[in-house]
Amino acid sequence: MTNVIDQSRIPKRRLVSGKEIPCIGMGTFGSDRFTSEQVSSAVAGAIRCGYRLFDCASVYGNEDLIGKVFADAFADGAVKREELFVTSKVWNDMHGAGDVLKSLKKTLEDLRLEYIDAYFVHWPFPNYHAPGCDGDARNPDSKPFSIERFMSVWRQMEEIMDMGLAKNIGMSNMTIPKLEAVLPLCRIRPALIEMELHPGFQQPELFGYCVREEILPIGFCPIGSPTRPERDKATGDVSDIEMPEIVEIAKAHGVHPAIICLKWAVQYGAVPIPFSVYENEYTGNLRCVTEDPLTDDEMAILKTIDKNCRLVKGQVFLWEHAESWEDLWDLDGTITK
Ligand SMILES: NC(=O)c1ccc[n+]([C@@H]2O[C@H](COP(=O)([O-])OP(=O)(O)OC[C@H]3O[C@@H](n4cnc5c(N)ncnc54)[C@H](OP(=O)(O)O)[C@@H]3O)[C@@H](O)[C@H]2O)c1
Repeated sequence: MTNVIDQSRIPKRRLVSGKEIPCIGMGTFGSDRFTSEQVSSAVAGAIRCGYRLFDCASVYGNEDLIGKVFADAFADGAVKREELFVTSKVWNDMHGAGDVLKSLKKTLEDLRLEYIDAYFVHWPFPNYHAPGCDGDARNPDSKPFSIERFMSVWRQMEEIMDMGLAKNIGMSNMTIPKLEAVLPLCRIRPALIEMELHPGFQQPELFGYCVREEILPIGFCPIGSPTRPERDKATGDVSDIEMPEIVEIAKAHGVHPAIICLKWAVQYGAVPIPFSVYENEYTGNLRCVTEDPLTDDEMAILKTIDKNCRLVKGQVFLWEHAESWEDLWDLDGTITK
């Protein structure tokens, strides 16, 4: 492969433990557009081109094939285990007593790893929906956020860290009110948080809160997930790669607008995890953090185009008496019950 990116040119971030993590990784959620074979073969190509951070999850349904790719890459010397930073997440239907360990063990077996570098609570609710279900589908067993329920999951997360099966633990899809409620109760605090982050949804308050709390923000949908399934699109959603300011800056740099979104995320201080199965795209996504940064003026322009537009609204996780997807996100500064 000609497109190999030198590791020393990829900037690193530091977790509170002191451990380094690349400033960009690869997402592995193929949604219903790509097969597990396509996603895992992209992971194989990505390792060879220089990616070292991979964002996995049991619910993505492809950890077994990705595990084979990892095993092959270790066997043929493409990469060593300790050079990779692999994340995974416990899905919403595995929040009961003993479930976190069970879920992680299955993930480790599928990924063919002895430990995971970071394990996340994917969503802070025990609310399950069938993969690929309609956007307005509701599960009558769904429940609003509860500190007690969440902490019973988090205690299990702390245990898997004690056992050495997870080197770090993290949360995902959280809000400031929820974090304020649970952080003081944590024996082991989250080292990372996954949150939606792209120029049209910069979440400056939550982002700043995490940085102040020494929790590294991992940014999902960094390109604004332009080709997400129709059921996940809503009237009024922004399309980051079509925003005139982004298109303009992309022209000035001679790159696709997606690349500007990624440069913005890294310069903002996040760790974006873009997804692509196409070699030219994923290679370009990694290379863009090694060259031609955005200027301060360009970063200032991008700061002004935040549309506060959440794309992953999570409406399928709503409980029965909830009114709208906004109930998941505590918009009035208190936890919605
Ligand atoms: N924690 C959570 O709850 C959560 C939620 C959502 C996502 N995630 C993670 O975040 C990852 C990324 O999110 P995402 O896949 O939804 O959105 P994304 O990375 O913002 O967008 C991915 C799409 O952008 C396009 N793209 C990628 N690189 C490009 C390039 N260089 N030029 C042009 N187009 C490019 C591709 O479209 P084409 O395929 O059409 O080329 C690709 O499918 C997921 O894979 C997953 O690992 C986590």
